[in-house]
Amino acid sequence: MSDKESNQTNRSRRSFLKGATGAVVAGVSASAFSGVVQAQQPRIDWNQQRQRNSRRFWRKVKKQFVLDRRTTYMNIGTTGSMPKHVLEGYEDNNKLVAKYPWDMKNKFGSWPYVAEMVADVAPGFGANPDEIILSRNTTDGLCSIINGLHFEPGDVILTTHHEHIAATSPLNVVKHRFGVEVVEIQLPVFTGTEEVTQQDYIEAFREAIEAHQNVRLIVFSHITYKTGTALPAKEICSLAKQHQIPTLVDGAHTVGMFDLDFHDMDCDFYAGSGHKWQCGPGATGILYVRDNGNRLNEYWSDRDNPLWLINSSLSHADHLGKQLQMQYIGNDNYPAKQALVESCKMWDEIGRDRIEARILELSQQCKTQLSYALPDAKMYSPNVEGLMSGLTTFNPLSDVTDKERLTLFRDRLREEYGYIVRTTSFKVHKDDAHQTHALRISTHLFHDERDVDGLVEAIVDLYYSF
Ligand SMILES: Cc1ncc(COP(=O)(O)O)c(C=O)c1O
Repeated sequence: MSDKESNQTNRSRRSFLKGATGAVVAGVSASAFSGVVQAQQPRIDWNQQRQRNSRRFWRKVKKQFVLDRRTTYMNIGTTGSMPKHVLEGYEDNNKLVAKYPWDMKNKFGSWPYVAEMVADVAPGFGANPDEIILSRNTTDGLCSIINGLHFEPGDVILTTHHEHIAATSPLNVVKHRFGVEVVEIQLPVFTGTEEVTQQDYIEAFREAIEAHQNVRLIVFSHITYKTGTALPAKEICSLAKQHQIPTLVDGAHTVGMFDLDFHDMDCDFYAGSGHKWQCGPGATGILYVRDNGNRLNEYWSDRDNPLWLINSSLSHADHLGKQLQMQYIGNDNYPAKQALVESCKMWDEIGRDRIEARILELSQQCKTQLSYALPDAKMYSPNVEGLMSGLTTFNPLSDVTDKERLTLFRDRLREEYGYIVRTTSFKVHKDDAHQTHALRISTHLFHDERDVDGLVEAIVDLYYSF
């Protein structure tokens, strides 16, 4: 089916915009930002909630978010939204720090003020407290590791052709600074026709490892931001281990979406965002450094100091251990870090496995309904167990290289129907002359089946009049 130039019904698409509950929620949101002290709601103990999988339960979760009810926010891949109690605690802690800058009333414990926070979140990620750094974001984590590694001319770094600038930018620095060769692996890209399997991804990495000498690092996204494909991270790390190559995983989209277990995955470094799917405040992230970086000393035994701590005020104090050295970058934003921790606690109480299952359930619904309603649209996110994530990328238009038209489609979807999604651009094949463009939809724990139904209905409606 081609894009239809239709002069069909000019029915009011604005009727899709939801207004009914907007005022109430806007009230909550306004007060949260206005500095007016509100009576805090009693904190919900998510462990105590019965039937933690029922629709009623997820409705209760949804109510914890102050997102504008007149629109449906489906761009968590760019940034998330703090739950109400997290926002309130954040605001209170900001006031406390402003009022008592000297000792912060001992609210965050003793120097370096984050030890308790780290201990609270580490088990939820299958890590020890001395392996978790509360970073600023994924970019911060990736830059700290890539720019800290002691590369030399002739070293090879394997990465993929679908990485984010948060990785490609520091990779470009070490390429020019040290003469490192950065090799982009051609990832299999699902285009809706041929099947893809986890094995296809593992083979792509295996071939690249076997084709290159002196591979010093593998950097890849657990979920690519371009197509929303989840890569078999554990298997790729296992392959790397067989060749004594350390792994650095870009987990911008997995923290808060997947039930992560870093020990089980056995990567060396994992950099993720706190502000996206984990719904913490801006400039928060999680950085995992396995076992004080000790395995790196083993793999890189020919280099005296494989990892320089380039983003630390304590790089000279080796006796403190890498976690504390990397955590301490001077005075920090403790209220923001605490807010991230509160959000993590909510996720842990609900159960990260349940959250992952719920996100994938909604994502599968989204992919299935879109493919059914618009069979000629191109789907770039596999609807396949093990490769699926909470991101859905697809393009309903016949010319997938037409960025302008797709951007207009995205904008009209927001302005006329109230669904907020974004676009992404990528090359299906590394040597493609053109970019392919797609809409990218995020489904999260604060969505429900009706949100997905509404989105698909809106896309179809817009498509037939576009
Ligand atoms: C795959 C990937 N990596 C890194 C980033 C950067 O994330 P942050 O803003 O947390 O640094 C993004 C942001 O969208 C991303 O999609």
